[in-house]
Amino acid sequence: MNISLSIIYLIATVTFVIGLKFLGHPETAKKGNLISAVGMILAIIGTLFLHDFEVPTINYILIGAALLIGTILGWVIAMKVAMTKMPELVSLFNGFGGGSALLIGLVEFSKSVGVVEKPSAAITSTILSAIVIGSITFTGSLVAWAKLNGSMKDLRLPKYNLINNIIFILLVAFSAYIVLMNTDSYLLIYVLLIASLIYGYLFVAPIGGADMPVVISLLNSLTGIAAAITGILYDNKVMLVGGILVGSAGLILTFVMCNAMNRSLKNVIFGAFGGDSVAAGAGSKVGGTIKKTTASDAAVMMNYANKVVIVPGYGLAVAQAQHVIHELEELLTKKGVDVSYAIHPVAGRMPGHMNVLLAESNVDYDKLIEMDSINPQFTNTDVVLVVGANDVVNPAAHNDPSSPIYGMPILDVENAKHIIVNKRSMNAGYAGIENELFFNQKTSMLFGDAKDALTKLVAELKNM
Ligand code: TAP
Repeated sequence: MNISLSIIYLIATVTFVIGLKFLGHPETAKKGNLISAVGMILAIIGTLFLHDFEVPTINYILIGAALLIGTILGWVIAMKVAMTKMPELVSLFNGFGGGSALLIGLVEFSKSVGVVEKPSAAITSTILSAIVIGSITFTGSLVAWAKLNGSMKDLRLPKYNLINNIIFILLVAFSAYIVLMNTDSYLLIYVLLIASLIYGYLFVAPIGGADMPVVISLLNSLTGIAAAITGILYDNKVMLVGGILVGSAGLILTFVMCNAMNRSLKNVIFGAFGGDSVAAGAGSKVGGTIKKTTASDAAVMMNYANKVVIVPGYGLAVAQAQHVIHELEELLTKKGVDVSYAIHPVAGRMPGHMNVLLAESNVDYDKLIEMDSINPQFTNTDVVLVVGANDVVNPAAHNDPSSPIYGMPILDVENAKHIIVNKRSMNAGYAGIENELFFNQKTSMLFGDAKDALTKLVAELKNM
């Protein structure tokens, strides 16, 4: 490889690392994205014009057309997507990454067919890994996408964990057989490809309810690994490093999600993913009477409080009420109330959803308090205002072993003196279960769309 290309790859690698670092904070995330994107463009241009291709194998027209179509599609989709639909988009893009890796694997395999000098076992293993991991990521991500947009329901075959684990072991054994036989049979490769695609489907199909964030970040990590493998195939260092960064960042995120969902990684990969003993929607029936409140009563309660904690959830994002909630917070602060936001790691529909949403309306980042730090503060909180959150404040996670979310760490809002819950109805949240918090003696329900309810609350407070 020529020296200028090596330097470009080095610069691109550095931009990926710096970009990733900047992505770690909402204030610098945009800049981080931009820095990495510039690095990626440099790497693409460098590869196209400085790589030692054999001239007949490079077709600039085809490559240019593919780049143009991909850029336009990516631009239009990303500009149009609603913030709440972001995880769907991430799943879809993960799937495309996996699909590319499997196609590259197939192309590389075809180069070894019929040649006298067979590739080494290491190269064949790399090609097969690209095909297997790429295929699993491809169908797995498409299933995750379909589930997130509600077009596919959970599918749980009897003994699905056993079936999935057996297929996984067979996939590994079959791949090892192909490597050992040093065969160039297309039939065997296509069998491996189809089995991997089916495994990707079966792997994600049973996962439901609250476990979805874990599988999305795991698939994200697999896409990175698939990209890294293709980097090995092409001896392309920037592809290898980029893939490793995505793979490891995805894996770290998976661990963070596992902790937040109270699942071990072993459980995620081989175990009772999605809940073996309880179907989503299970859990004890919750009953009792609920207490309704009005914007004016809620405003009085908050006006005379010393400490208010706001708990944002998915409904805040749906209602696009981030600006009015910031107005409410500023108004209360002016009145001398100590206001902060309690952030649950899986509130909303993607990691960091609430942080991003509140950053949009310039909420001071220091006011966002993570779950572990805010939980001990609830006992001396006068009023908790829950806006469009449900699962992340459901005490069934502590109290009901039959609940699908049992064991998940939650925001302990029930320890506060008063709880105001804003949502539109008594409908369940993402996990599809009832919430005993709404029937708690200390809870008042403020029904209505979050934006409307908060706007009324702000108007009442302004009059006090
Ligand atoms: P959810 O449990 O999904 O509850 C959201 C609540 O918002 C619903 O009960 C809904 O009740 C209410 N809502 C919807 N639109 C509203 C509106 N316009 N105004 C007011 N309220 C509205 O949300 P959560 O507490 O944030 O928990 C997140 C859930 O999503 C967890 O189960 C989590 O595992 C899962 N999940 C998270 C992620 C990540 S990584 N964050 C990814 C995928 C899934 P009404 O219909 O009665 O209004």
